[in-house]
Amino acid sequence: MQLHQSSWQQVEAYLARSTGIVIPIGSTEQHGPNGLLGTDAICPEVIAARGAALGNFLVAPTFNVGCAQHHLGFPGTITLRPSTMIAAMLDWTTSLRRHGFTHFYWLNGHGGNIATINAAFAEIYAEGSLRPDTRGQTNIVCTLKNWWELPGIAELCKEMYPTGHGSHATPSEISVTWFAYPQAAEVLSTVSMSPRIAPVGPIRDAEDYRRRFPDGRIGSDPTQASIEDGRRIVEAAAGALAQDFARFCTPSE
Ligand code: NI
Repeated sequence: MQLHQSSWQQVEAYLARSTGIVIPIGSTEQHGPNGLLGTDAICPEVIAARGAALGNFLVAPTFNVGCAQHHLGFPGTITLRPSTMIAAMLDWTTSLRRHGFTHFYWLNGHGGNIATINAAFAEIYAEGSLRPDTRGQTNIVCTLKNWWELPGIAELCKEMYPTGHGSHATPSEISVTWFAYPQAAEVLSTVSMSPRIAPVGPIRDAEDYRRRFPDGRIGSDPTQASIEDGRRIVEAAAGALAQDFARFCTPSE
């Protein structure tokens, strides 16, 4: 069930049986020569949509622009400052809290978001603690899960890509987006890259990034990507998500 494809009465009916919600969160940033700019948002969005079909939970609109300043050397990248992202996440959560949601499961697709998401959780909890009118109310709970850390996914990706998985514009994330948008694969699957496996190194500012990683990849060979691999990853991740979200919403959590 997708929030943006539901009526308010349907959301009200959902709240009568569950106060948990999955929020896909990602980024709009370059993903190398054969990857879509929306990769980090598309991956959690697709996995959450499939997981919702299995686990019958509600999925919020995708928070699809994150912390991507280091990719601004490449056309199309959009970033939020960490402070802006923290403020926006607080407003999303506070809006949903007002309706009665208590359990917020942020399914993340971008490593560069992790520090800021955790800072946003600190801000969200502080908002509850500092407001005297929330005393005695049910506490809210936030959790962060990177989709590639869902149970079984790292093992599956290692089996599929023993070399050249890397850490940015990886064959696993490119495969997931091609599964979601096969027409993109038609155009991008013939792109060649040199060197086959991209260099590795630290991530600093946009100028430094472009110098170190000229085509945008880090440590990866995404020419290994395929629609079929994407299907396998989405199926495995969606099943793991449905289980993990159910556990997260149990009263002891
Ligand atoms: Ni990515």
